[in-house]
Amino acid sequence: MKVVVGITGASGVVYSKKLIEELYKKVDLNIIISEAAKDIIKEELNIDYNYFKKFGSLYDNKDFFSPLASGSNKFDAYIVIPCSMKTLSAIANGYSSSLIVRVADIALKERRKLILVPREMPFNSIHLENMLKLSNLGAIIMPPCPAFYHKPKDIEDIINFVVGRILDLLGIKNNLYRRWRC
Ligand SMILES: Cc1cc2nc3c(=O)[nH]c(=O)nc-3n(C[C@H](O)[C@H](O)[C@H](O)COP(=O)(O)O)c2cc1C
Repeated sequence: MKVVVGITGASGVVYSKKLIEELYKKVDLNIIISEAAKDIIKEELNIDYNYFKKFGSLYDNKDFFSPLASGSNKFDAYIVIPCSMKTLSAIANGYSSSLIVRVADIALKERRKLILVPREMPFNSIHLENMLKLSNLGAIIMPPCPAFYHKPKDIEDIINFVVGRILDLLGIKNNLYRRWRC
């Protein structure tokens, strides 16, 4: 399975890190990191974005010559995690001025699996309208809302719940969280 992960400059890059670590060696992994995300990776995780190089092919967000930039190059799923409101808006409006947005445009036009993990609070009507538009186009809108029925003990449990639910959507078996009544 070929999977693309886009990381944008919203809070919550810890979710991207966990997802990428889980996908490593299970899929053909391709990663795009926006300029804003590079700063937030440093700020929130205290690591350099180059850390992600060892998990797959890392592409520059301006690299429209990358194989990912063409619909002729197949991938099975694309996850933008976390997805900033700027990138959400660009995707909803087909404004493909970065590789992250271009790949989402391809996912939509080619009817491939597109999972967006938007991070903002509260949402304004522009954000909500963009999400509704994309949901109607077939994207899966998956804000990283924690659940508490699995009785999380720490932050890691909360992260694992969100990432486990994304892996479920990709059809990748995992035991990252305790399922209801299991
Ligand atoms: C520390 C920090 C946290 C941010 N968190 C968010 C956020 O949670 N959601 C959001 O939409 N934007 C957030 N932003 C603003 C985005 O980084 C900014 O809009 C940026 O232009 C997004 O660019 P990108 O989508 O190309 O990554 C944050 C910025 C900083 C510096």
